[in-house]
Amino acid sequence: MSDKRRTVLAEAAQAMGLPIVEDNPYGDLWFDAEPPPPPLAARAPANTVYLGSFSKVLAPGLRLGYVVAPKAIFPKLLQAKQAADLHTPGFNQRVVHEVIRDGFLREHVPTVRARYQRHRDAMRDALQKHLSAGCRWRVPSGGMFFWLELPEGIDATAMLPKAVERGMAYVPGAAFFADHAKANTLRLSFVTVPPEEIERGVMLLAQTLAQTLKEAA
Ligand SMILES: Cc1ncc(COP(=O)(O)O)c(C=O)c1O
Repeated sequence: MSDKRRTVLAEAAQAMGLPIVEDNPYGDLWFDAEPPPPPLAARAPANTVYLGSFSKVLAPGLRLGYVVAPKAIFPKLLQAKQAADLHTPGFNQRVVHEVIRDGFLREHVPTVRARYQRHRDAMRDALQKHLSAGCRWRVPSGGMFFWLELPEGIDATAMLPKAVERGMAYVPGAAFFADHAKANTLRLSFVTVPPEEIERGVMLLAQTLAQTLKEAA
């Protein structure tokens, strides 16, 4: 989100008395240019709850994230957390505290960025090579995913079993809409699989799509 858009959003929410939840687990995974600081939370601190996570930059298994919230709602957040799972393991919190304190995390994050950027580039090239006909996507400037729009009329949820049979998988896009879901969308992750396998996966997706289009014709 551009600097200007963030300011407009923060001001509009403040004027309307609407709280903002700024859920930013991928914020540190930028590739092309560092996103403009500061986050929304710094512009409208009285009505923004900022959520961060160590899952994407350290290890998801730690189950550790953090909240920056207005003081007034902090007791309620604490109550909700305690009602949900009592508390996050103290051991995990101490481990993360230590890797922040000794500088490891600061040195580690750029290596994650560089690695994921190589994966992003591999997927960008593979999509261009194998899937350009009738599909649309934007090259993400950070994060872990490509968002794909398949040709109109293709249902990504219905197509998934055929893709899995061939040996690749994706997340159907319909689950990400609040309403008016677009059935012809899907999300592709580029982080876990090595670049060589990314190309094979995209090729299998292209074959699955070609088969589906042929069956629909
Ligand atoms: C948009 C978004 N918010 C928050 C999270 C939280 O991740 P975690 O619970 O592992 O910190 C995720 C994880 O996939 C996510 O995609």
